Amino acid sequence: MTLVGSAQATSSSTLGDVLEIRGGRPLTGQVDVKGAKNLATKAMVASLLGETPSTLRDVPEIRDVEVVRSLLEVHGVSVSEGDEPGSLVFDTAQAKSANFEEIDAHAGSSRIPILFCGPLLHLLGQAFIPDLGGCRIGDRPIDFHLDALRNFGAVVDKEPNGIRLSAPDGLHGASIELPYPSVGATEQVLLTAVRAKGVTELRNAAIEPEIMDLIGVLQKMGAIISYEPNRVIFIEGVDELHGYDHRSLFDRNEAASWACAALATDGEIFVKGARQYEMLTFLNVFRKVGGSFDITDEGIWFRRAAKPLKPVMVETDVHPGFMTDWQQPLIVALTQAEGVSIVHETVYENRLGFTHALGQMGADIVVHPKGLDGAYRRVARRELEQAAVITGPTPLHGADIVVPDLRGGYAYVIAALAAEGTSRVSNVGIIRRGYEKFFDKLTALGADFDIVG
Ligand code: EPZ
Repeated sequence: MTLVGSAQATSSSTLGDVLEIRGGRPLTGQVDVKGAKNLATKAMVASLLGETPSTLRDVPEIRDVEVVRSLLEVHGVSVSEGDEPGSLVFDTAQAKSANFEEIDAHAGSSRIPILFCGPLLHLLGQAFIPDLGGCRIGDRPIDFHLDALRNFGAVVDKEPNGIRLSAPDGLHGASIELPYPSVGATEQVLLTAVRAKGVTELRNAAIEPEIMDLIGVLQKMGAIISYEPNRVIFIEGVDELHGYDHRSLFDRNEAASWACAALATDGEIFVKGARQYEMLTFLNVFRKVGGSFDITDEGIWFRRAAKPLKPVMVETDVHPGFMTDWQQPLIVALTQAEGVSIVHETVYENRLGFTHALGQMGADIVVHPKGLDGAYRRVARRELEQAAVITGPTPLHGADIVVPDLRGGYAYVIAALAAEGTSRVSNVGIIRRGYEKFFDKLTALGADFDIVG
């Protein structure tokens, strides 16, 4: 029986989309984690704001980067290899408008196109953004983005297959308070405010490390951005920005995923490039579950120390809380913990659907669609939250699985690697969208698998 994850998966159409995984072997070895998917793509968009070429280093070779590269190229930006492996140069000298067909053909399954609004309005005075893709882990509305753009003076018209924007009188500074510290909406404001006329005050901003790295990129370009206490960011608009030369911070979500793989398979993985500071909250939970880690200047060793693992209560939250992107791989490890663990997903309304297929592999996971109360809660309760109650340890057995989304898909691969027996995992292309050289890394860690479709 083929198990479908939380979202209806598209049919597999390219080689490298179906894996046959033989589980029960620990993953041991080293993986190199390069630039963060959720920074590199945004820094690429920021290059549109520069009057001179920009260079981005440690760019991960992932689908989301290819999508943004294509979108930049259809807008006349020349993208070329830089002076070191993994670097790209963006030259906006010939930047121009693109027609809908070109944009739509390249927007793909990404959410990044929405961040082109501000830069294109500054550059061309108008923009068209096709309806967005991205992981189906909730409605993923963009109301915060559109409200902010209107606040800057943009005219925003919803069309049947996207959004048309114009700024006949240019864009001016704004006073914006986000209803929730949205990462994307914060990036939208930053990428628009830096060239707007006047000062922008952003309150209740997201402050994830990727956001701070994007602020670093913009500051290198000549922007004036002050990061104040209590999630307040002031941006003084400037008339001109030049290109940047920037090395993306490492992908802490990928690093956390490999750490959970070490826990779940009782292996030992060195994640080269991982740094403690951006992973503090994750490392605390990792230790409480029974993992141990050694931090070096080059990266972090992750391994299981306790047998069996220990149960925990985790609430996902905005930074510096426990990232929502970390909970899916962690839940697989918690199926091997002795006792009852609870994961409260407070950021997205449908990010626990992936647990259904884990149940078919032998896990004991109950999802509470309206979440769970409890005196111990520290994160403010949100209407849309849900909770997963994981009782372990439960041996996992192989199954046929279809990947539903990026992090859920990775979690399925960990489960298949930890399970006894063979699993067929389909729709793996989604995982390769966000994890660079995914198959090479599995092979380097001793995973026993074949590409069968
Ligand atoms: C970014 O998504 C990341 N994606 C996500 O990573 C990450 O999980 C998320 O931030 C939270 O950290 C990228 O950077 C490409 P949000 P984003 O806006 O910006 C609601 C991954 O696996 N909201 O912070 O889309 C929203 O529905 C991906 O790499 C509105 O209501 O996340 C959600 O409940 C998955 N209206 C909450 O805010 C809006 O206009 C947080 O979303 C925008 C958001």
